[in-house]
Amino acid sequence: MTDLSAGAAPKVVLEHVSQYYGPLEVLKDISLTIDNGSFVSIVGPSGCGKSTLLKLISGLERPTNGEVSVDGAPVVATPDKLGFMFQRDALLPWATVEQNITVGLELHGMPPEHHAARRDNLIAFLGLKGFEHHYPSMLSGGMRQRVSLGRLLAYEPELYLMDEPFGALDAQTKILMARELLKIWSTYKKSVVFVTHDIEEAVFLSDRVIVLSGRPGTIQADLKVDLPRPRDFRTTKKIPLFHDLCAEIWDQIMQTQALE
Ligand SMILES: Nc1ncnc2c1ncn2[C@@H]1O[C@H](COP(=O)(O)OP(=O)(O)O)[C@@H](O)[C@H]1O
Ligand SMILES: [Mg+2]
Repeated sequence: MTDLSAGAAPKVVLEHVSQYYGPLEVLKDISLTIDNGSFVSIVGPSGCGKSTLLKLISGLERPTNGEVSVDGAPVVATPDKLGFMFQRDALLPWATVEQNITVGLELHGMPPEHHAARRDNLIAFLGLKGFEHHYPSMLSGGMRQRVSLGRLLAYEPELYLMDEPFGALDAQTKILMARELLKIWSTYKKSVVFVTHDIEEAVFLSDRVIVLSGRPGTIQADLKVDLPRPRDFRTTKKIPLFHDLCAEIWDQIMQTQALE
């Protein structure tokens, strides 16, 4: 399945990107090409610039040196059809599940007469039926992240930037969310850049895992995940290659921390 995007133009390209905040060098000479339709995870020690990398791709920050482009065009403002999801949901607290998802449809520019059908579809797809009229404060963390995902999907991004979106969830909910995300990804085939500190999650989800070194972040390793799809956590976890990759990433992260 990884080869679906073979030959296609890259979605994101970073060329010799460095980022400083004042005297602090956060990212150093990052060159990276992300294929259209691929699922790429970024792992690395805390503070190594993972969130900064996503901000550079999103246009929220401009690099000190080097160039970032999306769909072949330099990023000077937030590119069209870009969806960002954070560890903490950014739902409107005064709006119901239904209304929060409708925000995504409005952002997308979908004509109002189509809202109800699309919204109901997403609510069913994400297992939120029966909670349409609940407010975020009435939902569990996992359900709130589902609503966030629903709003993101409603917007129909071409590029998903996800910054530890399941980082605050318990282990079981995390696995369920990862399963949902893969279901979505295999349905819509969009490009995803996913930051996580969970190595197993990275390997389970991705076509490729990038390991960043400690600050200033450089690319320490770039590993292809040749595990068959569709993946199922229980089955995939039993494949020796899954363990080999997790161990390899662990080693890489330990090495980079030893260098600090
Ligand atoms: N806007 C900013 N101004 C100053 N320093 C920042 C800013 N954003 C991030 N940093 C610093 O840059 C480093 C990398 O941050 P970040 O990209 O959030 O790391 P990570 O997501 O890998 O934990 C940290 O030391 C952080 O304090
Ligand atoms: Mg971060």
